[in-house]
Amino acid sequence: MVVLVSGNGSNLQAVLDACRNRSLPAEVVAVFSNRKEAYGLERARAAGVPAVWQPKPKDQDRRQYDATLADAVIHYRPDWILLLGWMRLLSSPFLEHFPGRVINLHPALPQTFPGINAIQRAFDAYQLGHIQHTGVMVHLVPDEGVDCGPLLGQQEVPIYPQDDLHMLEDRIHEVEHHLLVTVLASVLASAPTSY
Ligand code: GAR
Repeated sequence: MVVLVSGNGSNLQAVLDACRNRSLPAEVVAVFSNRKEAYGLERARAAGVPAVWQPKPKDQDRRQYDATLADAVIHYRPDWILLLGWMRLLSSPFLEHFPGRVINLHPALPQTFPGINAIQRAFDAYQLGHIQHTGVMVHLVPDEGVDCGPLLGQQEVPIYPQDDLHMLEDRIHEVEHHLLVTVLASVLASAPTSY
């Protein structure tokens, strides 16, 4: 698996730990980030996994960058690409290289709060009485749609009246770490490898 991250990488850590303790029969062969300071790169280095900083040059458009990123990822011959807090939309010059092989994690239920700040927006919607709970989902990324695609797993996450945003974030991340590994285990068990 190649993992793409833009930030903290706590979900990357959950995957690295699951690979190490063999609850996930898989290996992370490289971690890429568009952001040099992403702590996920540190986590990769600490686990002895190649950590690749792949910035987008100003003179490169999005599709050129995605094609360059795909070339760099292909070098590691991954069976799966995991988007774990990767905060850039991927266009077809990337996705066409990995049909049915790109998996995204998103901190909301299907068809709710796509894009950035999903947890904050769910929290605000709860305060306004628009939702009673939120959730987490893991899905395939077939095209350039934002946080949508064939669902691999989802789990509701409760919101309580006494929650502040930080409490809800912590609860969501805890659910993510567990759901992600569970879903990956079942995906790996049922899919043939491509390389
Ligand atoms: C996670 O909550 C993930 O679901 C979210 O970014 C966070 C990364 O946390 N992804 C998205 O919002 C994608 N639209 P982490 O860096 O600690 O794993």
